[in-house]
This record gives sequence, structure tokens and C-alpha cells, in this order.
Amino acid sequence: MKNVFITGGAGYIGSHCVVSLVKNGYNPVILDNFSNSRQTVLKKLKTITNKKIISYKVDLRDKSKLKSIFKKHKCYCVIHCAGFKAVSESIRETIPYFDNNIGSALSLLECMEENNVFKIIFSSSCTVYNENQSLPWKETIKIGNTKNPYATSKYIIERMLMDLAKYNKNWSIRIARYFNAIGNHSSGLIKEETNGVPNFLVPYIVKVAKKELPYLRVFGKNYRTKDGTCIRDFIHVMDLADGHIALLKKINQKKGLKIYNFGTGKGTSVLEVIRAFEKQTGVPISFRFSKKRKGDAAVSYCSAKKALKELKWETKYNLNQAMMDVKKII
Ligand code: WQD
Repeated sequence: MKNVFITGGAGYIGSHCVVSLVKNGYNPVILDNFSNSRQTVLKKLKTITNKKIISYKVDLRDKSKLKSIFKKHKCYCVIHCAGFKAVSESIRETIPYFDNNIGSALSLLECMEENNVFKIIFSSSCTVYNENQSLPWKETIKIGNTKNPYATSKYIIERMLMDLAKYNKNWSIRIARYFNAIGNHSSGLIKEETNGVPNFLVPYIVKVAKKELPYLRVFGKNYRTKDGTCIRDFIHVMDLADGHIALLKKINQKKGLKIYNFGTGKGTSVLEVIRAFEKQTGVPISFRFSKKRKGDAAVSYCSAKKALKELKWETKYNLNQAMMDVKKII
């Protein structure tokens, strides 16, 4: 059974990837410092997968501990999900975002090279794309004019990976550009865990539904969109997790670097998400329009054709199904 190291494996995307890895016959090894996740997720993963998942509490910047894990387990491939990921938070905490995201990636890559592990799937983001390019965004459009430190950190790591692939032919690198992951596993046992006030739209709506927050602020109502609110490509987190499996299954076929969008290919507005949540859960959401949020793009959604053509991957869930799964956690 192939060991797949998953950094950030106790986090939102990472934990759902762990479920898909087990389902597909891989042996996940979680590396997580639990700075943005909870150790209780490990027990929930055991319940869902009926398997005790190997896990290590480790900060990826702790090279000696990281090296000991690579020595202990033969690693087939690394899925690198660990990282801070909130646009608005990154504007408030710029240096910690660079130190954590870029520092961790650098340390991980060094350790991989030292241990002759040259397969990596990197959790990147649609926020690396330059805005104001014709939609839907394809993998070949321009990147780099990033609008916030979170996106900049992802862009810098992508550039590091591109240089690695260019100058060292041993590497097989897959860059997964995530759009907006939403929803949760159908068991309702694992989800986006937020300490305090959530940055993200759907976790915030959940807190309002649970009466833990009074109302949702909708950031901006006069964007040049169908209803004036921002448009995003909301992809069910289980579809996203399965995208990693699709990458894993083919990573051995070709060395070098390849990039894939992981989204639905459909743009959905903030108001449409609120309405879908209310329709599927029967819980009304009180909201107030407020000023635009710094760093927000007006519209972002992808073309997912490349992943379909090359990986035979496509989304299986739609927004309503995602909201039905969210209903299990309110
Ligand atoms: C979505 C929309 C807000 C909260 C995220 C991640 C990033 C990347 C893309 C993977 C925006 C609006 C939000 C609220 C609101 N994914 N909103 N009120 O910023 O698109 O980026 O997905 O890499 O990791 O940051 O997600 O959920 O914060 O915002 O009106 O209380 O919802 O303005 O238009 P975002 P988000």
C-alpha cells in the first residue's frame, strides 16, 4: 500500500483528502501542527474510514522532526495542503502568512529532495490568477498580479515549483488550483473548523444559522454582476478531494510540472449561496449589505475542461447537494 504524506491532513481540505485516499486504497500519513485544525478530527477520520490514520504533530519548518518522519515511512507522494488560507486574514497578518506558507513549503521541498521523494501535489489557489481576464479562467491565463498576501504566498510557491521542475528533471509536480471549497463529508463529522469568527462565507452562514452570530455581512452589493454581489466557483470539498486522487493516479506517468483547475466551471453569487442554503436547510439567514472587502475579486470561476480531459475528473456534486451536506452540521 502506497504511503501518501498529507500535510495539513487534519484541516478542512486535508481531512477530506484523507477520506478519499483511504477509499482509494492509499495509506495516508498526516503531518499537521494543528495551528488551524483540531486533533479531534483524527478520531472522526477513524470513524469514517474505520482505520487508525497515522499522524504526526509537526510544524513543517521543524526540519529535524520532518526528516525523522521521512526516514520512518517510505513516502510515495506528498499532498501539500498545510497553509494559512484566508484572504482577509492575510492582509492583517502578512508576515506570518509568508513565514508559514512559504517557509513551510521550502522546508518540505528540501526534506523531500534529501529523501529522494520527488512527487508532490500542491494545494494552490484561483487567487493566483490576474483578475479582469476573460472568463472562465483557464490554466494558461496570466498569473502573478496577486491582490493579497495569501494569494502572493501561493504564487511564490508556484514559481518555486516551476523552477524546481525546470532545473531538476526528477520532479513530478502537480499544481492544483482550488476554487471555493464548500460543504463537508456526508457524515457531518468533518467540516471547516473555525476558531472564532469565520472568514469564509459558508462557515459564517452556518454560525448565523446556529444563532452563534446575529447576521451575515454581505461584502458589496454593487459589483457589475447579475445581482451586484461577488461571483465565485463553489466546489464541493469531496469533489476537490477526489481531484487529488485523480492526480495521484496519473502522477507516475509523466515527470515535470502540470497545472489543473479544480472548480465546477460555474459562477455563483453570494446571494445565490444564501438562497440555496435557506432552500436546502429551511433556515432563514439574516444578512446586511456592507462595504466591499479589501482583496476581493468581483468574479472568479474556472474552466475545468483540462482536468476532465487529462484526468477524467469532473465534479459530481452541485450547490444544492453541498448545502444538503451542510445541513448535517448545523
Ligand atoms: C467568498 C465570497 C466575499 C464572507 C477563498 C479562500 C481561498 C481560495 C478561494 C483556495 C466573497 C463573500 C464572505 C462573509 C461575504 N480557495 N463573503 N461575507 O475570499 O473567495 O477565497 O476561496 O485556495 O483559499 O480564501 O472566499 O468565502 O472568504 O468569500 O459576503 O462573511 O463571499 O466577499 O465574495 P474567498 P470567502
